[in-house]
Amino acid sequence: MSRFEYAPAPESRAIVDLQPAYGLFIGGEFVPPADGGVIKSVNPASEEVLAEVAEAGPADVDRAVAAARSAYQDVWRPMPGRERAKYLFRIARIIAERSRELAVLESLDNGKPIRESRDADLPLVAAHFFYYAGWADKLNHAGFGPDPQPLGVAGQVIPWNFPLLMLAWKIAPALATGNTVVLKPAETTPLTALRFAEICQQADLPPGVVNIVTGAGPTGAALVEHPDVDKVAFTGSTEVGRAIAQAVAGTRKRVTLELGGKAANIVFEDAALDQAVEGIVNGSFFNQGHVCCAGSRLLVQESVYDELLASLKRRMATLRVGDPLDKNTDLGAINSGAQLERIRNLAGIGEQEGAQPWSPPCQLPDRGYWFAPTIFTGVTQAHRIAREEIFGPVLSVLTFRTPDEAVAKANNTPYGLSAGIWTEKGSRILAIADRLRAGVVWANTFNKFDPTSPFGGYKESGYGREGGRHGLEAYLA
Ligand code: NAI
Ligand code: MG
Repeated sequence: MSRFEYAPAPESRAIVDLQPAYGLFIGGEFVPPADGGVIKSVNPASEEVLAEVAEAGPADVDRAVAAARSAYQDVWRPMPGRERAKYLFRIARIIAERSRELAVLESLDNGKPIRESRDADLPLVAAHFFYYAGWADKLNHAGFGPDPQPLGVAGQVIPWNFPLLMLAWKIAPALATGNTVVLKPAETTPLTALRFAEICQQADLPPGVVNIVTGAGPTGAALVEHPDVDKVAFTGSTEVGRAIAQAVAGTRKRVTLELGGKAANIVFEDAALDQAVEGIVNGSFFNQGHVCCAGSRLLVQESVYDELLASLKRRMATLRVGDPLDKNTDLGAINSGAQLERIRNLAGIGEQEGAQPWSPPCQLPDRGYWFAPTIFTGVTQAHRIAREEIFGPVLSVLTFRTPDEAVAKANNTPYGLSAGIWTEKGSRILAIADRLRAGVVWANTFNKFDPTSPFGGYKESGYGREGGRHGLEAYLA
């Protein structure tokens, strides 16, 4: 069959109205930061500055926590769950109504393809609010005792890979359970969180229930260390997760940490190989590989290695890298220059250590941050690209002969967030899944998310669960 010619199909960005500068969202209003610091947020596909946002200092964090505290005491905690639910349903509906605008803004600020922000991120964001809205008046029947209580003020720090989705994962369960929130978005992707602040205004959410403080690491540290924060929720690097665990050790604060991963995607010889190839591509190149649960270690049974690899390369050659706002784009921009540097560095180490990189021919744009989808073959378990999180579109391919060897290799990692199994045999899925030390195990699929399903890790991938009924527990006493 002949291939169709490619024609660009750009999404209009006219739907997104951006102000040149944004303040902090504290007590229901946008306010300037106390010391006037600013951060520029750029579009990683063009390096164009999209907007300036405020850099919150300790005094601003203090103000935000105070606003959250009084909203907690005076309004949100006393409010019956069925009333809180109405606000969450309203927020969910507004997100669904404004999803096109939010998807375009997410792609602009983050670099992810519009196909993903429109079809994955935004539907999941709305679904998360709908889901937890449903729990708000049923907490007495959630299995956490007859009358579970909120914790108080939650300090939440989120990363840049799924900016609005991570916000939803943090804010929806916190609000449903009667807690109030101070959230710090990542410094490279603050814009959808600020748009969410406007949605809180539009929904008439009582002032102070949600506060958004923008800034970088020091702002996050000030929030986590604030003495009047009762609960800390963090998603990001294991390194910062460790620092946070140390900072709150010995305090009464409750903590959940969702950190890195190095998931094994295991393909047995009896698997439907074409379907597996789709899952491998989705597992390692979805969101440019900026996914904590990415299937970045492919374990292939030796007997099907050649066939699978040929088919994977054929599929990778059809991936389109480029303008995130083009509806045909599969891989968008790497989120920041710093992240691109990290990916290049680790890929370079892979080559030095003797693994062989392969990428399909693809033309990368001149401006912005880009990395071609890459696989490394000849990888052993000792290689750093098989052990460390790359957080980019890079897949390490290893092989195995027996199921036992597959399990041993899959578990040979300091992480334990997710894993994938590809086989026609249901009994094998159950037997292998049982032995994998990973919080989520997908079978004959990968990177599937649903608000009803708990998510979280073992070992250095962190602790606590988000999503589902389990996700309520982290916000209840
Ligand atoms: P990071 O962990 O530094 O950033 C995540 C969030 O934590 C951001 O909002 C940041 O401002 C904040 N933060 C930084 N230092 C902090 C501190 N001391 N206290 C409180 N908050 C702090 O991650 P970064 O530097 O952007 O990425 C580095 C690597 O981390 C990536 O290459 C990737 O391997 C991993 N990562 C994993 C994520 C995941 O979803 N598990 C998300 C982002 C990064
Ligand atoms: Mg940005």
